[in-house]
Amino acid sequence: MEFPVVPNKHTSLLHAGYHHPIHRKWQANAQITSEMLMYPIFVTDNDDVEEKIDTLPGQSRWGINLLVDFLKPLVDNGLKSVILFGVPVKIKKDPVGSAADDPNTPTIRALHLLKKAFPKLLLAVDVCLCPYTSHGHCGVLRDDGTIDNRGSVRRLADISMAYARAGCDMIAPSDMMDGRIKAIKDALVEEGIAHKVSLMSYSAKFASGFYGPFRDACHSTPGSGDRKCYQLPPQSRGLARRALVRDIGEGADVLMVKPGTPYLDILRDARELAPDYPLSVYQVSGEYAMIWHSAQAGVFSLRTGVMESMDGFLRAGANFVLTYYTPQILEWIKEDSN
Ligand code: PBG
Ligand code: ZN
Repeated sequence: MEFPVVPNKHTSLLHAGYHHPIHRKWQANAQITSEMLMYPIFVTDNDDVEEKIDTLPGQSRWGINLLVDFLKPLVDNGLKSVILFGVPVKIKKDPVGSAADDPNTPTIRALHLLKKAFPKLLLAVDVCLCPYTSHGHCGVLRDDGTIDNRGSVRRLADISMAYARAGCDMIAPSDMMDGRIKAIKDALVEEGIAHKVSLMSYSAKFASGFYGPFRDACHSTPGSGDRKCYQLPPQSRGLARRALVRDIGEGADVLMVKPGTPYLDILRDARELAPDYPLSVYQVSGEYAMIWHSAQAGVFSLRTGVMESMDGFLRAGANFVLTYYTPQILEWIKEDSN
């Protein structure tokens, strides 16, 4: 439809449509609700400690024994979903990341625990090899140091099954190997649990400079080289579109664009390429830190900076956001409803 259909001397007057705060709410394409927030949680194998993460102010690695007490007030405040990241520190890392699906790995223990403690909370798990491999890469390597894609995909499917059996509701592979969505979906079907474990693909995941604080949090910086041969080049819109289409074709249930703010055009592309799919965006660690430090420096209030970034994600087409600001936003949603 062309708009305005019939221009007249009044259609140029806009103020009336947003002079009142409720009017302004009506002008939004979507309002943020608690269902739209997924909180990334770092779980470590130091069972009784909370280790503050210097580069992610306000975030910590949590020992299993502190996890329920940490999450309880957030669940009471409306927290609906989390994504778990394992940060084992006591393990021996090896080239194939054997510790990733060890029955005692922090994510598997946390899944059992959280499923019992919070039966309604959606539990997603990040699947990747980088926190567990001696070389720190997201896949298995060949002798020449390049990625062994087939071996990686096989390993990722095995790890995914271990998490699925431990009770996770959603598998979220962040490795960016070719064909992992199909391999994991096939494994879920084979196991007979494809109806109750969904698959969220980190589809358009870029080789970003904004992951720094996260790699610090997870001790997952590659020992040598970088991730530019599997994560997407930030300059490329076309590869992101192809990766999204590819992952839909391989059976992804939910799509993701990551990072968020520098890639809002990709988020809009994803929305248009896949109008019938739930779409998420990951506001990554560097974006979190950037907003945090800006607020500290008086650029804006934290709430203003965070909520404006959320507005951008929703406007571009996201259905939900993975963000370390989840606790604060839940609080602000509650304040707003009073
Ligand atoms: C691991 C992974 C990373 C992030 C999520 N999963 C780091 C990376 O790929 O290097 C980044 C999240 C963040 O920065 O908050 N594959
Ligand atoms: Zn990784």
